[in-house]
Amino acid sequence: MTQRVAILISGGGSNMVSLVEDMQGDHPARPVLVVSNVADAGGLEKARSRGIATACVDHTAFGANRSAFEARLSEVLEAAKPDVICLAGFMRVLSAPFVTRWQGKLLNIHPSLLPKYKGLNTHARALAAGDSEAGCSVHEVTAELDGGRVLGQARVPILPDDTPEKLAQRVLAQEHVLYPKILRRVAIGDRSRLDLP
Ligand code: GAR
Repeated sequence: MTQRVAILISGGGSNMVSLVEDMQGDHPARPVLVVSNVADAGGLEKARSRGIATACVDHTAFGANRSAFEARLSEVLEAAKPDVICLAGFMRVLSAPFVTRWQGKLLNIHPSLLPKYKGLNTHARALAAGDSEAGCSVHEVTAELDGGRVLGQARVPILPDDTPEKLAQRVLAQEHVLYPKILRRVAIGDRSRLDLP
């Protein structure tokens, strides 16, 4: 049966677009909802213009009450009955009750070769460490930040004149290749690891 995919974003949504554009034809999944925690996230308009239902759950409206924010997010998701929930540049940490509620359905893309550089500023940290390569990872989401099982990675060489911005751009291009490939596999129940060169 066709898998229903919800996508959570916070910003421009280029990963969301790459997932949505792949979900056509014989693809085993279809996008059913794009949710942002930021009202003016550029990705919302990109989703709307592609005919996808959108919602905003603005975390600032809940102040420091993370569980109320996550409860509302779950309500919005429940209405869409997703089989898979892709975090795609979703910049809120999700706590254990939310992760447990959606266990087995949550995927995330992270701009580093996990387990290296969990959290923020991944590209600057890879450069500061003198690494020769960087990349991105798609992983299952657990309550440990960026800590779930890695389903796939793509690698990008670090060049002598790299800046965090230049590196981020090249890694992002690989994110757009990796994430759709992993989603296709997950949608048919294949969670074996995929490594792109
Ligand atoms: C992407 O590089 C994604 O890997 C990163 O944010 C960017 C979102 O871009 N995510 C994280 O850092 C999550 N911790 P996009 O909105 O254009 O997809």
